[in-house]
Amino acid sequence: MSGPLLVFDSGVGGLSVVAAMRQRLPQASLAYVCDNAMLPYGTKQDAWLVARCVAVCEAAVAASGATALVVACNTASTLALAALRARLAIPVVGTVPAIKPAAALSQSGHLALLATSATVNRPYTRRLIETFAGHCRVQRLAADPLVAQAEAWLAGEALEPTLIEACLAPLWQDPELDTVVLGCTHFPLLREALVAAAPRPVTWVDSGDAIARRVAQVVSPLPLASEPQTAWLTREAPQLTPALARFGFAQVRWLGLDDADTALSSPAP
Ligand code: DGL
Repeated sequence: MSGPLLVFDSGVGGLSVVAAMRQRLPQASLAYVCDNAMLPYGTKQDAWLVARCVAVCEAAVAASGATALVVACNTASTLALAALRARLAIPVVGTVPAIKPAAALSQSGHLALLATSATVNRPYTRRLIETFAGHCRVQRLAADPLVAQAEAWLAGEALEPTLIEACLAPLWQDPELDTVVLGCTHFPLLREALVAAAPRPVTWVDSGDAIARRVAQVVSPLPLASEPQTAWLTREAPQLTPALARFGFAQVRWLGLDDADTALSSPAP
């Protein structure tokens, strides 16, 4: 098998995982698929989202000839990994909030999980916290507006510092909080702005490097890069072309889906 490692997200968030993979696996051939037609995922209903993730990933795996799928989206991974593994014949690596390393890093035992509404409320996330941070105090904070901020930022627009500060404000009510898990792959793209918005230093933890290491364990040998590498979008978005090129995707294509097959025409909020 020599097809690329296909990285999937609702939008540009998966590019934070691509950055970690390019750092750790610089020779690997990558492809990207983002379901920007249905962004954001974090406010969608579960049953709809499972069907949508399967439909988009099946279509993108077929179009790209991928060797493995990296679900670079916590919102999708905490819900749809089993469905994806059942439908796809290639290895599937997921992304879940980095609760375990954060619990190990924290000195005070006071953590926060910053993620989408869907991720902070998922049973999977609760179990993750009970299993790996049962001895810690874990604040779960939904920050859906940061997804749109990251999308705008990658499209070349200015950030809104007051909105970012407002999203983070509840964190600082705990004076002992010392570690924040970025449980949405969009958020590491805003790391500088998050650091600037914090009234005091904390440790920000994301899953990017752990995913890259996991991919290297699961896929051997790695497919080697040959130019050009492709990003697949479900809606045309020329404003994203420069950012996709910066992350190594010089070619951008539209991914057609059969709406009749996937019942995707009316997403539920
Ligand atoms: N980047 C995604 C995540 O890791 C989801 C963002 C969204 O579409 O709401 O959860």
